[in-house]
Amino acid sequence: MTEKRDDLYLPSREFVEQAHIQSRAEYERMWKQSIEDPDTFWGYIAKDFHWFKPWTQVYRGEPEIGDNEWFVGGKTNICYNCLDAQIEKGRGDKVALLFQGEPEADCKRFTYNDLLKHVCRFANALKKNGVKKGDRIVLYLPMIWQLPVVMLACARIGAVHTVVFGGFSAEALADRMLACGAKKMVTTNGYWRSGQKINAKANADKACMLCANAGLTIDDVFVVDRMVDFEVPYITYRDTALSKELMLDEISDYCPAEKMDAEDPLFIMYTSGSTGSPKGTLHTTAGYMVYTYTTFKYIFDYKEDDIFFCTADIGWITGHSYIVYGPLLNGATTVMYESVPTYPEPDRFWHIIDKFKVTIFYTAPTVIRALMNQDIQWIEKHDLSTLRLLGSVGEPINPEAWHWYSHYVGHDRCPIVDTWWQTEAGGVLISTIPGAFGSKPGSAALPFFGVKPVVLRSRTSGDEPAVEADVNEKGELCLASAWPGIMRTLYGEPERHQNGYYTQQPGYFFTGDGAYKDVDGYFWITGRIDDVVNISGHRLGTVEIEDALLSHPAIVEAAVVGYPHKVKGEDLYAFVILDKNSKESEEDIRKELKAVVRSDIGPIAVPGKIQFVREMPKNRSGKVVRRILRKIASNEIDEISDSMINILAEPGVVDEIAQNRIGDK
Ligand code: PRX
Repeated sequence: MTEKRDDLYLPSREFVEQAHIQSRAEYERMWKQSIEDPDTFWGYIAKDFHWFKPWTQVYRGEPEIGDNEWFVGGKTNICYNCLDAQIEKGRGDKVALLFQGEPEADCKRFTYNDLLKHVCRFANALKKNGVKKGDRIVLYLPMIWQLPVVMLACARIGAVHTVVFGGFSAEALADRMLACGAKKMVTTNGYWRSGQKINAKANADKACMLCANAGLTIDDVFVVDRMVDFEVPYITYRDTALSKELMLDEISDYCPAEKMDAEDPLFIMYTSGSTGSPKGTLHTTAGYMVYTYTTFKYIFDYKEDDIFFCTADIGWITGHSYIVYGPLLNGATTVMYESVPTYPEPDRFWHIIDKFKVTIFYTAPTVIRALMNQDIQWIEKHDLSTLRLLGSVGEPINPEAWHWYSHYVGHDRCPIVDTWWQTEAGGVLISTIPGAFGSKPGSAALPFFGVKPVVLRSRTSGDEPAVEADVNEKGELCLASAWPGIMRTLYGEPERHQNGYYTQQPGYFFTGDGAYKDVDGYFWITGRIDDVVNISGHRLGTVEIEDALLSHPAIVEAAVVGYPHKVKGEDLYAFVILDKNSKESEEDIRKELKAVVRSDIGPIAVPGKIQFVREMPKNRSGKVVRRILRKIASNEIDEISDSMINILAEPGVVDEIAQNRIGDK
């Protein structure tokens, strides 16, 4: 049993005795070394990898301005370390990837030997068709086993992969292709979602057309056959059926791994920021490799016999780091599932845990909240006794969800690691280390090795120095060190990288999250403090959604904010001003607005509520005071202070908007 002390849940003695790190003192000694002597700390860990050429310097750079290089001069290949190196260590016949398709019978097991062969064949097929080192290649692929295979194939030959989440629309996909100048794409003929066959190729085709209209010709679209009997149109001069290529005699089972410089780009992952266009976080080879390996090992207390199941989508960073790279670099067995937790019934995850004897389960609070609303029989009918550790990621976990997770999934026996991090980080930054110290429901706990978080008071002018907040005082969560997994830049936008992360609190990496630190040094994340929202674990910028709404001819102004939602964590509330000449009904426009957002960004970004307003609450310089809109959307109207209202050009507008607030159904 986990032991409870006040709000601190300690791991059981049995857990501690088998753990990699068994006390807070041991953790603190390692953390201190990682900060004071990062060269020794990370150099020691990195020695266990395969290097074509050793590094000459572990770290070079200036973390205060985001100039970071790790394992300088070294040459390696992350795919080689995920596969060949594991086989060399005797894991060739061990299961590397367990794929569960949406149809129950569609279940595939790949050993490390199998995976290497598939990856090499895909790599050879891509190479034969002209893909080479340094090419950016967009992977518009859903959660099918070919996705990790293609990622690893790209990494093997040095092509830079950009996975775009399958739920994004053709427009959103095209934006990302244009932003990184990718002329090649891998997609699929279709995939399963809740019993429906979804045609991914149609979106891919439309995105290519949008790119062409914007001046970027897409040379190659490689199509993976996920579906049988699902015909999609092929454009002969551009499209290549990968399944046919893979059958060619000339495609060999082996492809040598490219010798990559430690700082060669590995992938670009687009994420949302406060301003409109998506940001392409660039992650490079060796630092990301060493960091995902280390976080996976210690945070999930990984052991050779574990079966690890992360429910994230590989289209987001969590899936990159903890379905693909982190587990494989440790020689683990990683489970990936194609579809939603509720198909065909709301016990699909519990069924998968039971079926594959999963020992470590990593999911998001939004999933937990959705599943705890289901009848308890759905979980009770499955044997979850193989589980020994649970993880949470993506948003703050509310204590009610934490307790349900601990009791019904973990049987009050499994420690819970609440892992705080972000796309920019590459891997987890703050978490419980499960054998070393306890968890507090709702707190992400202590920093991982190499990470030095500080909570700073917000600054009102450029000249003010950074000042640390007191214990328990809320402030801006910043990072004062460099860790190997940190993004190196925003692809093609070095100035945005500088201005977006290193100027709010000069000398620190600004995370965009609010937080406070308690007397035990535990960090409590209070949510985003910028114009970024987190809807069911999907990170979205409110400005991108406003841009989509404004593209409707009847809308003259739009402001979008997040508000608390019982299951999704947050949902979107849009305030819009209608053109006076518009003749359509509000109901019709509301439907059209939702359709516009669905087509411009994707279904995940459709606002739950759209309110028509006469005027926005603006200050005297004409800027919308979003704090007021957030309070109205969150039904915290009493908390709108006089000082907030006094700065408005037209104070009366607040009452008017508040009175017409759309309530919860
Ligand atoms: O606000 C934080 C929240 O998710 C943001 C990062 O989103 P993204 O880049 O999409 O990466 C998600 C997966 C790592 C953060 O700025 N967030 C993530 N994990 C937690 C969290 N908030 C609280 N607790 C967490 N464990």
